[in-house]
Amino acid sequence: MKMKLRIIGSLAIAAVSTLILGSCGGDPDSPGLEYMPDMYRSPAVEPYVDYGHIKERENPELKTRLSAMTPPNGTIPYYGTDSAEVYLMLPYKHKANDEFRETHGMYGEELSPKSINTYELAATDKNPLALPAESDSLAYKAFWKGAEKLFVANCAHCHGEKGDGNGPMMANETYTGVPDYKNVAATEGQMFYSIYYGKGAMGSHRSIVNKKEIWTLVHYIQRLLNKDYGTADFEAEADTEGEEAEGEEVADGEESEGDGEEG
Ligand code: HEC
Repeated sequence: MKMKLRIIGSLAIAAVSTLILGSCGGDPDSPGLEYMPDMYRSPAVEPYVDYGHIKERENPELKTRLSAMTPPNGTIPYYGTDSAEVYLMLPYKHKANDEFRETHGMYGEELSPKSINTYELAATDKNPLALPAESDSLAYKAFWKGAEKLFVANCAHCHGEKGDGNGPMMANETYTGVPDYKNVAATEGQMFYSIYYGKGAMGSHRSIVNKKEIWTLVHYIQRLLNKDYGTADFEAEADTEGEEAEGEEVADGEESEGDGEEG
């Protein structure tokens, strides 16, 4: 009897140690024995893969399940329920001109024919982004601080922090042809157009700044040109004179597209 117990005991010890030792194989990269592999390795679900139809194989039970799929053309992202915010984010109404296909790599995108100068059409667009009133000092300061951040992060390396066209890229001669904003004849609508689609040697910036940010930058550029821009004084001035007294000078008449400079 004692003998039997001893044998069972040793067998049990042997079984347990085989199990323990067996789970550590000789291969250091092997995870050993896995009791619940699904918990170690969850099945990878790739976004934008239609698992209902993958590699010529139909999976009917997955066909009706929702997964992240490429949105249909013309889909507009959800920007909340604030109508002003949503309005700012709606698709830009001007298509880029056909020549942008080559100059700015806009392949596979619907463009306006060469005969329609959409840059000119943009001249009368007004900045839809309302500036916070100066009297609301917290919102006012936060707005300009945010605008400055955007400008310094995305534009100042070419345009210079003061907008004089002398950013570090120009200073070390890696880049040329950046204008001083003082010599830019574009209206605010055209500034938006150029930042959105690019212009000449400037590339399109729509992939790094959204529409609200671009309109913010348009305000900021006008502020760089006139330190009173966005203040109560400036508003009063604009009201009495019926136009913005900016003392802007156009360098020369070469900017054929930008004749209207009501700003
Ligand atoms: C790589 C350098 C570079 C960067 C970065 C850059 N720009 Fe420009 N920008 C230029 C050049 C060059 C021009 C002159 C284009 C022309 O008139 O041919 C220009 C022109 C402009 C104009 C005048 C457009 C017009 O219609 O005449 C505006 C406004 C402007 N940039 C704003 C911005 C803003 C805002 C940013 C940041 C989001 C930015 N740029 C980033 C190089 C740059």
